[in-house]
Amino acid sequence: MSPTVIGFIKVSLISLLVGVVMGVLIAAGVFSGAGRPSLVTAAHAHVNLLGFVCMLIFGVAYHILPRFSGKPLYSEGLATAQL
Ligand code: HEM
Ligand code: HEM
Repeated sequence: MSPTVIGFIKVSLISLLVGVVMGVLIAAGVFSGAGRPSLVTAAHAHVNLLGFVCMLIFGVAYHILPRFSGKPLYSEGLATAQL
């Protein structure tokens, strides 16, 4: 796996850890006293969906799509820039 793919997967797993801890804290009512608890929900949703789900999809896609198409990635540098 390229360093970029590994980077995407690392970001994804760190996000999952952060997002799940946030979810448990929300469920435990830790933020119920906060002025805008909906902001915490939105942060939890995006850490999980953008951080975990999307980064894992990008990482796996950069690894597997060049193999499906039988052609090397157009630019490893652009993938690293996206990461
Ligand atoms: C143990 C893990 C998790 C716990 C305990 C948890 C808990 C919660 C709770 C309590 C809420 C409601 C917050 C509120 O009403 O303000 C919530 C919302 C949400 N969670 Fe999680 N969550 C977990 C994992 C995840 C994961 C893995 C994802 C996505 C991949 C996710 C996506 C969302 C989204 C999108 C919302 C907002 C839903 C909406 O718009 O109403 N959660 N979560
Ligand atoms: C950089 C990219 C993104 C930006 C700037 C963004 C921005 C926002 C904003 C401003 C809201 C709040 C809307 C409102 O409360 O009226 C929102 C809600 C939401 N977005 Fe995103 N979003 C992004 C990416 C994504 C992605 C990739 C996903 C799913 C894969 C997603 C899923 C959601 C969901 C489920 C909610 C509702 C969350 C809640 O109940 O608090 N977003 N987004």
